[in-house]
Amino acid sequence: MPADLVIRNLKVSVAGEPILRGINLEIKQGEIHALMGPNGSGKSTLSYALMGHPKYQIDDGEVFLDGENVLSMPADERAQKGLFLAFQYPTTIPGVTLANFLRSAVSSVRRARGELSTQMSETGARRETLMPMREFRKEITQTMKDLEIDMSFARRYLNEGFSGGEKKRVEILQLAMLQPKFAILDETDSGLDIDALRIVAEGINKLIGPNLGALVITHYQRLLNYIQPHYVHILLDGQIVESGGPELAHELEAKGYDWVRAKYAAPVS
Ligand SMILES: Nc1ncnc2c1ncn2[C@@H]1O[C@H](COP(=O)(O)OP(=O)(O)OP(=O)(O)O)[C@@H](O)[C@H]1O
Ligand SMILES: [Mg+2]
Repeated sequence: MPADLVIRNLKVSVAGEPILRGINLEIKQGEIHALMGPNGSGKSTLSYALMGHPKYQIDDGEVFLDGENVLSMPADERAQKGLFLAFQYPTTIPGVTLANFLRSAVSSVRRARGELSTQMSETGARRETLMPMREFRKEITQTMKDLEIDMSFARRYLNEGFSGGEKKRVEILQLAMLQPKFAILDETDSGLDIDALRIVAEGINKLIGPNLGALVITHYQRLLNYIQPHYVHILLDGQIVESGGPELAHELEAKGYDWVRAKYAAPVS
């Protein structure tokens, strides 16, 4: 049975300000959902809240991944259970190379899936086994080739000095290596040149299939020309006000958000 990610009545505030005002969304493995909405409507807030970012206060609601309560899990456990988040503004980790970062992230996820053994040291402490170097190197080399990322990036510190488009490609590299059940991609298309957009979209498309459920946050139809969503949702002032098929994204492209605002704007009190 496909797993599902279920968000129920999620209310989130930031710095004491309510931003998400009751989000309901269900994503099954194999489904592609697009989330659109004007600037400041709360799209990134949703991804940060799903990651468990401490600044994002959960006021109400529930999130279940395959029936398990996500909100009570630490961030690393969320990743181990198959949730992947790519952020609008990826963080830099100086001193940690992309290759080392990926090897430890992939190893952690595979250990949790039982695909890597956990060894006990002589003192009885759990030793965290890493994926064997040869195997890892083979996988990362092939995946970087597919995504047309220069091999020299593997030795660079994560995201340090990477251009906007390079960061986005590297996120898809992470996605491809981690093979999560659910991926939340926050404006993965922003800042990409025309070739990079195609490469990144093809990279995502390759991963799309019965095992991946995705929430693709984007402002533009052009990404959705490559990645065809099954469902499109519009977020306005912290609520999903419209859900439909791909035609909804075309309607936004043609008409903008004014009609959505006119239909749903909260009365000024
Ligand atoms: N750390 C923060 N401190 C104060 N306000 C915040 C913080 N994070 C988010 N907000 C506010 O929450 C609202 C929603 O922001 P969010 O980043 O989720 O919007 P978005 O839909 O992703 O917009 P965009 O399309 O511009 O990326 C905004 O008004 C923003 O200013
Ligand atoms: Mg955003």
